[in-house]
Amino acid sequence: MDVRGHGAIVTGGGSGLGAASARALAGAGAKVCVLDLNGEAAATVAKDIGGLGLACDVASAEAAETAVAQASAAHGPCRVLVNCAGIAPAKRIVGRKGTMALDDFETVIRVNLIGSFNLLRLAAAEMAGAEALEDGERGVIVSTSSVAAVEGQIGQAAYAASKAGIIGMMLPAAREFAKLGIRVMTVAPGLIGTPLLLNMPQEVQDNLAAQVPFPHRFGKPEEFAGLVLHIAENRMLNGDVIRLDGAMRMQ
Ligand SMILES: NC(=O)c1ccc[n+]([C@@H]2O[C@H](COP(=O)([O-])OP(=O)(O)OC[C@H]3O[C@@H](n4cnc5c(N)ncnc54)[C@H](O)[C@@H]3O)[C@@H](O)[C@H]2O)c1
Repeated sequence: MDVRGHGAIVTGGGSGLGAASARALAGAGAKVCVLDLNGEAAATVAKDIGGLGLACDVASAEAAETAVAQASAAHGPCRVLVNCAGIAPAKRIVGRKGTMALDDFETVIRVNLIGSFNLLRLAAAEMAGAEALEDGERGVIVSTSSVAAVEGQIGQAAYAASKAGIIGMMLPAAREFAKLGIRVMTVAPGLIGTPLLLNMPQEVQDNLAAQVPFPHRFGKPEEFAGLVLHIAENRMLNGDVIRLDGAMRMQ
């Protein structure tokens, strides 16, 4: 899809991969709504790109319904959804300080998996009601998983489960939405230099970057955003996961 003039929603757009994706989509001419739990960060990015910035907890049905309706009123129906909102707290299942609380597991699933599904369902409903474009295409949904979905480390049980869930729901969604001309894709990044990683001590960063065969460094948010834009533009990409990891396989 040529995104020019079409409405796009980016969750987690106040920082890192979401912010870069919002900038790339706006650069290509999309009308971008930036959603983030941090409303100030969303507003800052939106101001930079001439978009709409809204505070929204992706895990809340009501908040997301309101935000999608506001985006639609401002920009027309959502044609592109990029799910980037996410959290990655690390915790052992049975640690020195006791057993992981069920609430801790649930919180990660709520934000990363249920949050992605929440926006997917609302955006898909918007797209379904929009006019068909070339090839019958109505919209595209890109969610962010992680290589941890299949190579989770100790402490990542909740995170890995949430990211595997994002991959799991992709194909049923792509199949269901095929007749509507809505594509569903997933990107599974390895290590990308966002505040999440760049706030770690230099030694930890160096050790992590050393695991990436080539290029021997963290990925850049712009490289993720470039892939998101390509997925939006390339209609043959549907129902698949693309790793963005410089050949890294976590131990
Ligand atoms: N950076 C990496 O190396 C990497 C690797 C694999 C996967 N990912 C995934 O990419 C996505 C983006 O990560 P990032 O590195 O840009 O992190 P980030 O922390 O820079 O950005 C995440 C954004 O999501 C927002 N957010 C958190 N909870 C939210 C909620 N309930 N509702 C709405 N917004 C919420 C945060 O406020 C933040 O602005 C995450 O899902 C993360 O798991 C990142």
